[in-house]
Amino acid sequence: MQTDVLPSAGPSRDAYGRVIDYLRVSVTDRCNERCFYCMPDGYAGWSTAADRLRADEIVRAVAAAARLGVRKVRLTGGEPLVRSDLVEIAARIWAIPGIEALGVSTNGTLLATVAHRLVRAGVRSVNVSLDTLDPELYRRITGGKIAPVLEGLEAAHAAGFEIVKLNCVLLRGLNEEQILPLVDFGARHGFPVRFIELMPMAGGFDFARHHLPVAEAMRRVAARGALVPEPDARLGHGPARYYRLENSPARIGFIGALTVEHFCATCNKLRLTSDGKLRPCLGREGELDALPAIRNGGENELAEAFAEALRHKPAAHEFDRCPGEGRPMTALGG
Ligand code: 5AD
Ligand code: SF4
Repeated sequence: MQTDVLPSAGPSRDAYGRVIDYLRVSVTDRCNERCFYCMPDGYAGWSTAADRLRADEIVRAVAAAARLGVRKVRLTGGEPLVRSDLVEIAARIWAIPGIEALGVSTNGTLLATVAHRLVRAGVRSVNVSLDTLDPELYRRITGGKIAPVLEGLEAAHAAGFEIVKLNCVLLRGLNEEQILPLVDFGARHGFPVRFIELMPMAGGFDFARHHLPVAEAMRRVAARGALVPEPDARLGHGPARYYRLENSPARIGFIGALTVEHFCATCNKLRLTSDGKLRPCLGREGELDALPAIRNGGENELAEAFAEALRHKPAAHEFDRCPGEGRPMTALGG
C-alpha cells in the first residue's frame, strides 16, 4: 500500500500541481424536485439504504480529507435538506480541525425551517438554485412551486449566513429572458447570482437544444451596463468568474464549464457521493469506491483512498465525449 501523502503534510496537490482543498459531499441522491437536467424521468438509481453513508461515516470521511489538506466543504445532494440529520452533520463537520469553510447547496424549498439551525451549526454560505422568477416556468423546469424557495431565501437572509448566492442554470429556449430579472433580484437582496452552463449529464434531456454559452449571458447582462471583473472576489471557492455591474450593487458570476478555455486549470475539488464513491471529476466517469475504507477501514486505508482519488484526478473534463451516460447530476451534487 502506498502512503505518499502524509497526514497534516500541508496542502495536497494532484498530478498537475493543483491544490485540492475543497470537498463536495453529496449527502443524498434524493430530491423533492425534478429538474429535467438533473433528475432523469423515473430515476431509479437511488442508493440503497445499505450503501448510504450514515452521519458518522460522512464525518469520518471529511475528517480524513481534512487531514490531507481539505479546508472547504460543501454539502450537496440531491437535495441535502431532505436528510433529517443534515444540521447534525454540518455541526460535526464544522468541529473538524482544519475545516475553515462550510457551505450548503440547496433548491431552497425546505430552507425556511432550518436556515437558523444551519447558521448555528457553522454553515456560513448557502447556494440556492433559482433558474427563473416566473412561477409557471419554475414549475416547468423543476416540477415544483417557487413560493417556498422565495420564503427560504428570505429566511436565509434573516438567519445571517455570510453569503447567500443564487445558482441559475442557463437554459436556451427557457430562461434567457430571466437573466436580467435575476440579476436585478439578486442586486435588490444582496445575493450574488451565478449563471451556470448546462452540462450534459445523464438524464435524457436535449443538451444541444438547451445549452447556452456563458458568453451569451454576459452579452445580455452587458446590455444593462459594463461588467467590471472582480478578480479577487472570494465569494466562493468554486469555478465562477465574478463581475460587478457598473452603477449597480449586482454581483454576477459565470461558470462556463464547456466554453471557457482552461476551465479545469484551477479546479480544486474532489467529490464524495452519498454511497461512498470518490469522484475526481464531474465531467469524467471514473470513481473510486471508498465505502469499504469509510465503513470498516483504519485511518491509513481511508487516507489511501483519498490519495488514490487525488492521483486519478484528470487534467480536464470530457463533457464533449459520450455525454449523457453514467450517473445523473442528482447522484453527484453539481
Ligand atoms: N448542468 C449544470 N448545472 C446543473 N445542476 C444540476 N444539473 C445540472 C446540469 N446538468 C446545478 C443545479 C444546482 C447545482 C448544484 O448544480 O441547478 O444549482
Ligand atoms: Fe433537485 Fe437540485 Fe437536481 Fe433540481 S437540480 S432535481 S432541485 S437536486
